[in-house]
Order: sequence, then structure tokens, then C-alpha cells
Amino acid sequence: MAAHTLTFDIGGTHMKAAVVDEAGALISERAMIDTVPEAAPPDVVKSLATMVAPLGAFDRVSVGFPGVVRDGRVLTAPNLGTDKWQGFDLGGALSSALAKPVRVANDADLQGLAVIEGKGVEMVITLGTGFGTGLYQDGRLGPHLELSHHPFRQRETYDEQLGNAARKEVGAERWNKRVEKAIANMRRLTNFDHLYIGGGNARRIAFALASDVSLVSNVAGLQGGPALWRD
Ligand code: BGC
Repeated sequence: MAAHTLTFDIGGTHMKAAVVDEAGALISERAMIDTVPEAAPPDVVKSLATMVAPLGAFDRVSVGFPGVVRDGRVLTAPNLGTDKWQGFDLGGALSSALAKPVRVANDADLQGLAVIEGKGVEMVITLGTGFGTGLYQDGRLGPHLELSHHPFRQRETYDEQLGNAARKEVGAERWNKRVEKAIANMRRLTNFDHLYIGGGNARRIAFALASDVSLVSNVAGLQGGPALWRD
């Protein structure tokens, strides 16, 4: 029988989850709670386990985490607090709490797995609390690059210039100009064949997109879950 994957999309503002089938279609309700910035990682795991209790049965768990993770362990969590999260075995803790195997990936990397076509160089960027990126070649996820923390303009990083706090501060027009410039930089940097733009603020883009750039639904953050289990 095809496996059902409980998928978490952990964000700086909300934490979401749903059970999805092999093809990435949602087969449960979507659950969502607000992110509590000061919460300790073990308490976050408890809240996540409570949140998904009504969602029904699943065989395995995928997590999109907003930072750098390796082998289920958190290395950085810029929007949740790296000081609190660094070294936390998120995969292990969730696996104990839910009694299922768990795989953890960067949130943008996981989101892209739901939308790429699997041909050539494809890139995803996510516009949310922070600026996420994922890069793929012929459908395979490349090593995670924290481009979000790379210098962008005026001595600030992509995260600082494009994140939700910056958007609120500078307003729609200036934020849109920055997004346009960031897309041009990504094009020069990766020569992508196609770029996908996701995240909660993708809908705020007010300029015309080139034919090799498209917007994707934020639900993709949950739909990429099963792809983490394809070896
Ligand atoms: C983090 C990335 C993450 C992005 C979107 C950034 O602050 O550095 O790892 O993918 O936010 O959540």
C-alpha cells in the first residue's frame, strides 16, 4: 500500500501540517498553529505532536525546517533562534513523539521538490518571514546553499532586505524592486532554466514575470513531503 506522509512546514510565523499521499495530494485537513518565537525546541515538538493528533493515520514524517539541518539535527534557525535550536535533534525528538521515522530538510528545499518538473536547472525561492532558496538539477536536490545570508545590497543580506519585516518597513513598491533585483541575481548566479516563487508573500509580487519564472502555491510547503523518501 502506498505510504502516507505526515508533512510539517515549520515557519517563522506559522507551523503547518497535513497528511499527503505519494503524489503530494493532501489527504487530511490542514492543521496550523502560530509560531511562538520564545518556545524551547522540546516544547515546540510537544505542540506539533498535539496539533497533528486529529489528522489521522500516517506511515512516516517529513519536516521542512527554516534553517540548516543535517541528519535531522539543526545547525541554524535564523528566524526561530539559532542559540536555542543549534544542535537539537529535531528528527529524533519528533520520531520519539510520533513513533514513526522522520526526515528533516530545509523548508525551501522541500517546497521545491513539490513543484519542479525534473528537467535542467530549476530553482525555488520562497518569500516569507525569511528568504528561502533551493536548487535542483534534473530533479535532484543540490547541496543546500544559505543564499539568504549572503550579502545582497547596502551591506544587508537577502533575508534582511526581502524578509517580511523589511517588506513592512519599506513598503510594497521598494520591496518589489528588491525582489526583481534578487531574481536577476539568481538568474546570473545559477542560469536557471526555471525559477519558482513560493511563500506567503509571493502573492504580493506586482511586476510581470518572465516566461521562465512562475508563482507556486504555498501549499507546496506540505506537498514536497513524500519526495524526501524517494532515494
Ligand atoms: C533561512 C533559510 C530558510 C528561509 C525561509 C532563512 O532565514 O536562513 O534557511 O529557508 O529563511 O524560511
